[in-house]
Amino acid sequence: MIYRPFGNTGLSISQLGMGCMRLPVIGGDQANIDKPQATEMFDYAIDHGVNYFDTAYFYHKGFSEVFVGEYFAQKKNRKDIILTTKLPPALAQSDGAQNVLDGQMKKLQTDYLDFYIFHQINAKTWPIIKELDLLSFMEEQKKKGVIRNIGFSFHDTTELLQEVLDAYDWDMCQIQYNFMDVNYQAGTAGLEYAGKKGVPVFIMEPMKGGSLTNVPRAEMDAIFAECDMEEVGLPDVALRFIYDRPEVTCVLSGMSNLQQLKENVATASDAQVGAFTPQQRQLVEKLNAFYKARIKADCTACQYCVKECPLELDIPGVFNYYNRGSIYGMWSDVGPKYIRKYEADGSKYNEKCLDCGACEAICPQQIEIRRIFQEGCEALRSRR
Ligand SMILES: NC(=O)c1ccc[n+]([C@@H]2O[C@H](COP(=O)([O-])OP(=O)(O)OC[C@H]3O[C@@H](n4cnc5c(N)ncnc54)[C@H](OP(=O)(O)O)[C@@H]3O)[C@@H](O)[C@H]2O)c1
Repeated sequence: MIYRPFGNTGLSISQLGMGCMRLPVIGGDQANIDKPQATEMFDYAIDHGVNYFDTAYFYHKGFSEVFVGEYFAQKKNRKDIILTTKLPPALAQSDGAQNVLDGQMKKLQTDYLDFYIFHQINAKTWPIIKELDLLSFMEEQKKKGVIRNIGFSFHDTTELLQEVLDAYDWDMCQIQYNFMDVNYQAGTAGLEYAGKKGVPVFIMEPMKGGSLTNVPRAEMDAIFAECDMEEVGLPDVALRFIYDRPEVTCVLSGMSNLQQLKENVATASDAQVGAFTPQQRQLVEKLNAFYKARIKADCTACQYCVKECPLELDIPGVFNYYNRGSIYGMWSDVGPKYIRKYEADGSKYNEKCLDCGACEAICPQQIEIRRIFQEGCEALRSRR
């Protein structure tokens, strides 16, 4: 494992961080983490040098923090790792920041957090943080030793990121970045701005939630031939693209099985700053063009929309089938699957949508969910 310095603190952070948002689950139920499998993954990660763990209040419907707490309490190695969880500003507004933090510490079975960060700063949550003066709350906790570093995760424009970075002397920031999003959200401009200010950057969604890990065989062969390259794994390329950047301290990946973890650990064990080659750059440009032309919903399956939907409609599930139909031409596979999963009773899944827009208000990707959901259900039904 390669480690990167965390600013001037003397802390060394593994350049691969364990994202705890996509742990293996039983029966597709996000609240039901497959504990034996997830335990095996955490063991492997720690044995191979991963020392950074990222969870949040909402992950796995609240059970990610519970699992992380149980794991480190049982293994008694909490002090060996760097633990982050997040304060959702809207929840701090409704329930009180102190109550939220107290509940999280209890679930995590810890008396300190290495990083406590605002969850998902955007144009709606940033005013809440300012209005409630939540930064003073964070500073009080830091003085008391309850938290050690203050940061934020971010999903909005480069301009807002710059404003947020200028507003406070942050210990770190977490941004979405991958080879497809160089001009989206924070983008390369935001990454460089944070770097210039000396704010360590942690990357989330390096594979756009898994959408950048696959291309159909024929296109894959053509792309590698055009780049005059031997075939390499796309997850590996996606990570190396980010490890190339000196501004980055750690890349979080939400690996959902041990094999993925093993591959990503291998990449993080030799990928260096400045090592991305012109050929690899040409490859990601071609992959980027391929995905951009075919993706229907730029969804990372973060599940935030499901949590907000009054009916908990499986929006990411529908988008996944819709994208797979469109990217891989797998309509005859995903069409019947869609029907079996969502319309087995004969009713139209899209007609269940109440059109309330709660999903769109929370979506970090600012997807036009309602329109694409309607379109996706219709397409999948008609092409089964
Ligand atoms: N603060 C925020 O607002 C926020 C938002 C999002 C994420 N995060 C944090 O950032 C972490 C990373 O984001 P992310 O989970 O979206 O990361 P990601 O690496 O972009 O996506 C993870 C998904 O990519 C696929 N994947 C990863 N490694 C792979 C490999 N070697 N081979 C094949 N597929 C692979 C898997 O998809 P399949 O499961 O489909 O196989 C996996 O579930 C999260 O876990 C969470 O801790 C924070």
